Amino acid sequence: MKIRKAVFPVAGLGTRFLPATKAIPKEMLPVVDKPLIQYTVEEALAAGIEEIIFVTSRGKTPMEDHFDRAPELEEMLRCRGQIDLLGQIEALVAESWSVFSVRQNDPLGLGHAVWCARDLVGNQPFAVMLPDDLIQPSTLDGQPVSPVMKQMVEQFQQVQSPLMAVMEIPADQTNRYGIIDPSGPQTETGLIPVKGLVEKPKPANAPSRMAIIGRYILTPDIFGLLGDQRAGAGGEIQLTDAMAGLLKKHALYGYRFQGIRYDCGTKAGYQMGNLALALEMPELRRHLLPFMQERLNHWARMTPTLAGKSP
Ligand code: G1P
Repeated sequence: MKIRKAVFPVAGLGTRFLPATKAIPKEMLPVVDKPLIQYTVEEALAAGIEEIIFVTSRGKTPMEDHFDRAPELEEMLRCRGQIDLLGQIEALVAESWSVFSVRQNDPLGLGHAVWCARDLVGNQPFAVMLPDDLIQPSTLDGQPVSPVMKQMVEQFQQVQSPLMAVMEIPADQTNRYGIIDPSGPQTETGLIPVKGLVEKPKPANAPSRMAIIGRYILTPDIFGLLGDQRAGAGGEIQLTDAMAGLLKKHALYGYRFQGIRYDCGTKAGYQMGNLALALEMPELRRHLLPFMQERLNHWARMTPTLAGKSP
């Protein structure tokens, strides 16, 4: 069954990035030359998704404007002959896909945000994509790979069961993620069968070190579970808890995706994403590498050890 719709929970206030996010949504912060949200929307489109569903809140309209026509701007670029830029701006709107939005009136958690999209999703399997997780379609040694959601759609077509992206994390970070409890070894294609899920467990209580990253393919029966879901970790309605309920009816899989993930929900991860993507561009790399070398030398002199903790 084709995955046509993707839910983007984007109602968060972005307090970690204040004051930058006082008047603009954090999803509109640039990563090199595109707003953060655009990367994940492009990833969805590359996976064949036709409907992007933003679950928003007050102050998020710049995101909707970004994926709408801008006639004056387009006309100006045309008059000036800036055809390349015009092409990039026009590509943000196309007849082959649409943007919808629905409000999350109360900040009751990720599970609640997804539930808010139930009428727009209807009775079909769908994707959930968290744009804070920016996933570069490349291996660490620079080999290109498929965009993550495309990988996941292909996996879903094989197993026809809900799945979520997972990656191994350091043991002391389990309290920042949903953690899966595997019921068996990873298959050749990267699927890990799951028998349980826990949202943000302390390291001592974590069933594994495999953390959920913000990409899911879910079946519509999740909405019934979310509707009945009580508040969980952090006093919020958690998607992870409702997914544990899916286990009664479905096999559930973690998918060890290929790609490099930057946690753009943190300042350090956001800076790493910017730097990594800028270094992919020859014109920027030419300036950045000598600068980075000089700064590294400086900090090596200033700091006895450069080994910092990962963010
Ligand atoms: C959410 C999910 C969590 C998941 C994480 C991935 O947490 O609740 O299970 O591991 O996204 O980024 P949040 O980062 O919104 O606290």
